[in-house]
Amino acid sequence: MKKWNAASIKAAKGVHKLACLTAYDTGSARLADAAGIALLLVGDSLGMTVLGYDSTLPVTMADMLHHTAAVTRGVTSAMVVADMPFLSYQINLEEAFRNAGRFIQEAGADAVKIEGGAIRAELVRTLTENGIPVLGHIGLTPQSINVLGGYKVQGKTHEARDRLIEDAQALAEAGAFAIVLECTPSDIGAAVTAAVPVPVISVGAGPECDGQMLVMHDMLGLTERAPKFVKPYASLATTMRDAFAAYAAEVEAGSFPAPEHCYASAPS
Ligand code: KIV
Repeated sequence: MKKWNAASIKAAKGVHKLACLTAYDTGSARLADAAGIALLLVGDSLGMTVLGYDSTLPVTMADMLHHTAAVTRGVTSAMVVADMPFLSYQINLEEAFRNAGRFIQEAGADAVKIEGGAIRAELVRTLTENGIPVLGHIGLTPQSINVLGGYKVQGKTHEARDRLIEDAQALAEAGAFAIVLECTPSDIGAAVTAAVPVPVISVGAGPECDGQMLVMHDMLGLTERAPKFVKPYASLATTMRDAFAAYAAEVEAGSFPAPEHCYASAPS
């Protein structure tokens, strides 16, 4: 299977619905890649799914570089996009460019994702013109949670809907190869998708978008409270809890390890 890249993702608009997931480690990235996932996002959601924080804000460049490198080692055909963490791209263009470059050069990512609409157009243009593909992200942008006042559905008013369309157009004009649209009513997802020439990837923005993205831990049933837009495709929390309990019980009862799990010594 050929490796997905910014050009082939962009060309999929109107041709092929894109199945995308987050990933944070080599093993799960390898499984998702083999299953045909087109794009793996090393999301800063790892702050919550893997590192135990209650938001994405504490996640650092070091965290993201470490996990991005792990994901790239498990992938042969999916495009790997590294999420730029809070404060790694907001301060100035130069710092943003340097940090974005580190994901490509040190961690092997194929592209970076940044949150924000028209306000990021100059940065998207600079990165793209200098060889770093950018995935935009508008709608619910978790790094702005303290301004948004919570994880709420976005784009509910006419003004908010128009702003989302303008933001998406500004990102596409600046060179973003695709745009994540998070947590909006489905009709807003459809309107934004129709307004831009690049794929719009829905995270809870409805079925009319060009692709879908879910947080891996949510769709595997590993998260205690997943958002409404998540469909759990497995119940791994139950499977894991049962396995841990069975193991503990067998160790305590002395029935693990059994003879088939033990080595015999060589005859002398
Ligand atoms: O961090 C993340 O996982 C994300 C996706 C939900 C788009 O930003």
